[in-house]
Amino acid sequence: MVDTSDDWITSRTGIKERHILKGENQGTSVMGVKAVQGLLEKTNTRPEEIDLLICATVTPDMMFPATANLICSEIGAVNAFSYDLMAACSGFLYALSTGSQFIESGRYKKVVIVGADKMSSIVDYQDRTTCIIFGDGAGAVMLEPASENLGIMDHILKTDGSGAQHLHMKAGGSRKPASVETVAAKEHYVYQEGSAVFKFAVTNMANVSAEIMEKNNLRAEDISWLVPHQANKRIIDATANRMGVGADKVMLNIHKYGNTTSGTIPLCLWDYEKQLKKGDNLILAAFGGGFTWGSVWLKWAYDPE
Ligand code: UT7
Repeated sequence: MVDTSDDWITSRTGIKERHILKGENQGTSVMGVKAVQGLLEKTNTRPEEIDLLICATVTPDMMFPATANLICSEIGAVNAFSYDLMAACSGFLYALSTGSQFIESGRYKKVVIVGADKMSSIVDYQDRTTCIIFGDGAGAVMLEPASENLGIMDHILKTDGSGAQHLHMKAGGSRKPASVETVAAKEHYVYQEGSAVFKFAVTNMANVSAEIMEKNNLRAEDISWLVPHQANKRIIDATANRMGVGADKVMLNIHKYGNTTSGTIPLCLWDYEKQLKKGDNLILAAFGGGFTWGSVWLKWAYDPE
């Protein structure tokens, strides 16, 4: 479709494969539903028990209502309230931090966080600078009150709206509604100035990961896993280096899924879950459109099985 090569994609990004959701009327919620159904089965939870479901996404099924509502309706979460949260590639971290506040307040007992994006719906497959990166995917986690000193310990979240110029979608919002002209000008696709975003991502994702360690007196040897947003392997390597964490402690699956935006971090947790042990210190880190970035320190609360 575009002038590129496997060698260029692999060496510049680390990506080998991506997954694309195909078929008529298949929106992001389709993947979100599957992820949540798997989560309910695994945790032996009935859908009626869910108090709140937050879906992080930049590719909602529709402008409104929220994709979270569609997911709840499909899975039968009749007692939940739900909403979407949009913070691009940091969406899952923002949603995780937001959801954890509802648990910490003591008000709710079961909060589901979904990270889901159908990036293929907003990617121009004639643009070689973006179409080789993005893929479709979703993951979900459940937050519950912890009786021991486990779970989400701290988070640092940051935003810089002046970064919007480097990564955005030009049309389809209230500033420039969809028209024949906007479609012809391909303004409903991801616009990304790759190398500008790369520079901000490399610095800020590494800095915010180091910051959460310093703030909490965590040394590199205390960290069991770095769980980074999967945008580019070079950004992940720079973050691990800055933290002093070896490659054997870095969750990596960019080669399998590419950049699934809100989906990358829950997909990492899904892929690596069997290797996690109760008490493991995980640092989650992301950088993305907005600009948005942040890190979360959590102590894994379960042993395998
Ligand atoms: O997840 C949300 C946040 N997003 C990110 O974190 C993405 C950050 N950016 C990146 O990961 C990288 O900037 C890219 C992977 C998008 C691009 O890699 P790069 O090393 O920054 O390449 P570049 O944009 O500086 O382009 C270098 C060259 C250019 O050619 P010239 O001008 O040097 O002749 C591009 O035209 O590579 C060319 N190029 C390609 N060549 C083959 C760009 N895309 C491709 C391609 N295949 N797919």
